[in-house]
Amino acid sequence: MLVMNKQHNTNQTSKAMASFSVEKIRADFPILAEKIRNKPLVYLDNAATCQKPQAVIDSIVQLYSHDYANVHRGVHTLSVRSTDKFEGARSKIKEFINAASEKEIIFVRGATEAVNLVAQSYGKANIKHGDEILITAMEHHSNIVPWQMLCEQTGAVLKVAPINTQGELIFSEFENLISDKTRMVSVVHMSNALGTVNPVKNIIASAHDRNIPVLLDGAQAIPHMKIDVRDLDCDFYVFSGHKLYGPSGVGVLYGKQGLLEAMPPYQGGGDMIRKVTFAETEYNTLPYKFEAGTPSIADVVGLGAAIDYLNEIGIEAIAAHEAELLTYATGQARQIKGLKIIGEAAEKGAILSFVLDKVHPHDIGTMLDNLGIAIRAGHHCAMPVMDFFKVPATARASFAMYNTKQEIDVLMEGIKSLIEVFG
Ligand SMILES: Cc1ncc(COP(=O)(O)O)c(C=O)c1O
Repeated sequence: MLVMNKQHNTNQTSKAMASFSVEKIRADFPILAEKIRNKPLVYLDNAATCQKPQAVIDSIVQLYSHDYANVHRGVHTLSVRSTDKFEGARSKIKEFINAASEKEIIFVRGATEAVNLVAQSYGKANIKHGDEILITAMEHHSNIVPWQMLCEQTGAVLKVAPINTQGELIFSEFENLISDKTRMVSVVHMSNALGTVNPVKNIIASAHDRNIPVLLDGAQAIPHMKIDVRDLDCDFYVFSGHKLYGPSGVGVLYGKQGLLEAMPPYQGGGDMIRKVTFAETEYNTLPYKFEAGTPSIADVVGLGAAIDYLNEIGIEAIAAHEAELLTYATGQARQIKGLKIIGEAAEKGAILSFVLDKVHPHDIGTMLDNLGIAIRAGHHCAMPVMDFFKVPATARASFAMYNTKQEIDVLMEGIKSLIEVFG
């Protein structure tokens, strides 16, 4: 039976890959037809945020034009329509990440808010003075600062597992840092600064051996690979809609139901309550207990449309296309004299961070913009990673399903031309 299912999945994947057409996909993203400084846009800043297909844009226009009202509170037709679409998106996300129940899908503003929620709710309830929280040296600031804040509030200690010069987690060191004081492991699934994909299954197994919960920061991983939270067995998984072809302003905290049930609310207000008197408040059930106030309704609906779109293309086909782009871009970049790739992990997602001998990353960014090429230059909200590699910043090209090898050629030509200018 298992073999049959596997065969079925493999057939589905090959079917999806056979029908993958980057030109067809590009036509779904109106912004890709823009000209920047009279040049065709080459958008390679997808790790910061990715562009939106027409289907997502239409879903928002449709909602505001025909179906919009506040959710959960009304019996009138528009409120019912809005609520159905909103809760429909929750179900799509549940399926997309294979959560056990809609109760495990909490809508938040983004990955950042999700980590803060876990730190302040789970953390304050379970982490005390002298306890330890273990992260890695490649975390985004949003998986560092919320834990530092918790440490300030509780007297807990933040431990950081080191990385090697390839930009990979040194797993043995990570294991050595797990102690009988560790109360939480919080790790990035795929690094935004380096592209490294962490061995999250091993990390989770190690932590669970000692009954320590694991939060995975999936902000970068989720647009590039199949996420199955039950197969991973992570306790929390966080991501943002805007990096998943959906709108900004919405993200998801997945948490195992038992953990979420036991956690106190993060914020108080409307919708997260069952009964309020001045003497006391009875909190709502999951997932509403963690969704105080009017949510970002249209953005949630837009995220649902993004999931539909992704399902239609097939995440495996997207992953295969992006892997090809990364291999191609890495090969091209290695041939450029004076270019150094920052982050050469064996397991890597579609991110190429680099520095040039004689050109500051900000100049790279500005000069490439003159050619219509959008990349990111900076510390990528991962200052400790920059410190580790002893660079002030990097230039980062990050790829999405709609990018092409031709665009990578344009990027490489652009880099070569600016190396010539800077001599
Ligand atoms: C790895 C990683 N984690 C977390 C975040 C934070 O996401 P957001 O700003 O959407 O909350 C980002 C954003 O770049 C990221 O790359």
